[in-house]
Amino acid sequence: MRGDVRRLTRTVAGAQVVAVTDVDLDRARSVAEGVPGARALPTGQALIRADDVDGVVVASWGPTHEEYVLAAIEARKPVFCEKPLAPEVDACLRILDAEMASSRHLVQVGFNRRYDSAYRAMKRTLDGGSLGPPLMAHCAHRNPSVPPHYVGGMPITDTAIHEIDIVRWLFDQEITGAQVLKPRKTSRAKADLQDPLIVLMEIADGALVDVEVFVNLPYGYDIRCEVVCELGTVALGDGSLVVLRKDGFRSDHVPDNFQERFERAYDTEFQEWVDSVVAGQATGPSSWDGYAATAVADACLAALDSGARVPVQMRQRPAFYAPAGLRTPVGAGR
Ligand SMILES: NC(=O)c1ccc[n+]([C@@H]2O[C@H](COP(=O)([O-])OP(=O)(O)OC[C@H]3O[C@@H](n4cnc5c(N)ncnc54)[C@H](O)[C@@H]3O)[C@@H](O)[C@H]2O)c1
Repeated sequence: MRGDVRRLTRTVAGAQVVAVTDVDLDRARSVAEGVPGARALPTGQALIRADDVDGVVVASWGPTHEEYVLAAIEARKPVFCEKPLAPEVDACLRILDAEMASSRHLVQVGFNRRYDSAYRAMKRTLDGGSLGPPLMAHCAHRNPSVPPHYVGGMPITDTAIHEIDIVRWLFDQEITGAQVLKPRKTSRAKADLQDPLIVLMEIADGALVDVEVFVNLPYGYDIRCEVVCELGTVALGDGSLVVLRKDGFRSDHVPDNFQERFERAYDTEFQEWVDSVVAGQATGPSSWDGYAATAVADACLAALDSGARVPVQMRQRPAFYAPAGLRTPVGAGR
């Protein structure tokens, strides 16, 4: 919460933080104390109802998102919800139904990579068509380490979830099936964690995507993505700010963590959300995108369990939710 509040008060233009809350009220109070004009409120519901609150940021734990997003929709206030929209598909569907019943696009999901300038450059290249149709993508999501509570299916729900969203966005299509392969485990992973793993995803038109998820690889936080098309490929650059040459070697800096790698993307994400709230026109990843990501993650979890290919079960996309590519414009952040 503290990082989001800092970003909204110090970096983003056009927003004022007037109220904060947390189940840990002391934490909310200590954050509010550092923000002139902000107060701590006892519950999320009280915050959402407050007359001077025009928009809501939900950055609590995933299973608590549904309650607050539904309350914001009921209050007809725009809501930015950190990923996941909700960890359960049924909860996502309840949010879709409530938003459609309100007849307004009120929900944006925190898929921050869509605001990263390198991913946006990839998207513009692919949409420009000079490389021809995309056929494959190779992605990697490497973390130096993970906290003790990172267990079970979290390589999918916490980590690969970002690739699930970005692949849907880059290909402008849904993911229809998934399989998860389990390489030999690193000795650095806890006994109950399969690390690394490889997620294979099928795109609706038959293209294939592989994602290496490796969360105990100590050299740094390294995000890779290359899309292979009929006439060439486009890939994320190394993104290093400086290059070091010493003793016969050339080296780039690898970020330590996601905060460093995606710092500017988080700034742009919040700025564009605030701008969209002011303009009354939602632009970012929608609740449909949040629902689709959870549905694909569910298929990946089942595939991790069974080793088999698992089809993604999804509702037909309602007309209310435009195709993914029509939202999150890629003009900004160049
Ligand atoms: N987009 C990204 O790159 C990204 C990165 C990190 C975290 N996240 C997401 O942000 C969310 C928060 O993650 P975090 O790492 O900041 O967690 P965190 O534990 O640091 O902070 C979550 C806060 O929510 C509070 N909270 C829990 N239940 C609550 C409730 N019912 N009502 C009010 N407050 C409640 C906790 O007390 C805590 O202060 C998660 O959904 C996570 O997946 C997204």
